[in-house]
Amino acid sequence: MEVVIKRDYGLMSKAAAQLVVDVLNTKPNAVLGMATGSTPLGLYQELVRLHQAGQVDFSRVTTFNLDEYVGLSANHPQSYHYFMHEQWYERRIAECGGIDLQILGIGSDGHIAFNEPGSSLSSRTRLKTLSKQTIDDNARFFERREDVPVYAITMGVGTILDARKLVLVASGKTKAKAIAQAVEGPVTSMVTASALQLHRDASVIVDEQAAAGLTMRDYYEFIYAAKPAAPKA
Ligand code: PGA
Repeated sequence: MEVVIKRDYGLMSKAAAQLVVDVLNTKPNAVLGMATGSTPLGLYQELVRLHQAGQVDFSRVTTFNLDEYVGLSANHPQSYHYFMHEQWYERRIAECGGIDLQILGIGSDGHIAFNEPGSSLSSRTRLKTLSKQTIDDNARFFERREDVPVYAITMGVGTILDARKLVLVASGKTKAKAIAQAVEGPVTSMVTASALQLHRDASVIVDEQAAAGLTMRDYYEFIYAAKPAAPKA
């Protein structure tokens, strides 16, 4: 796992966008898995900027959404475009050749997608009941807490681990504990983001505040700084 610590949200977003651009430069028809939530917004804005500047082309890209609330109409502003169904979703991903790059956020309870604590680390796309923590966290997007859906369809942890490359972005002090557990804690279904430790090509890009709980920070910064000159594997 690569851990990249950037000074602030803007630099975190730029670094993550660069990874997407790198994938598209080597594979213009890449399959991208897109995360919802607020954290990747800066990354997406940076991709829009690069597109407008003619530096990246999405015309041949296929995308899959990571997760989706259940019970919201497709035109509800908080719907993540409700089109996922468990069976055909996994089949469609396979038909498209699998996901090349999956973008991820992390919940304050350590979830990736809506794989709440206790989710099997080999789970596939399915219906999940959201945790109280997630409902509280996401209430800010809705008028009332009662409006937050209790159910979601989400890619499973196993589905996510099948992607060829994973990029997880996290910003702010509310994510510091989850990031420390995911990166440096044991692999456990109680913190489903810890499953990234099982992946061969996972990057965790965080800002200073989200990095606050990491004990190996000096080492990550040393590796990242030395990367351009490192021998190619
Ligand atoms: P956030 O959500 O980016 O809005 O904090 C992340 C998540 O719950 O996965």
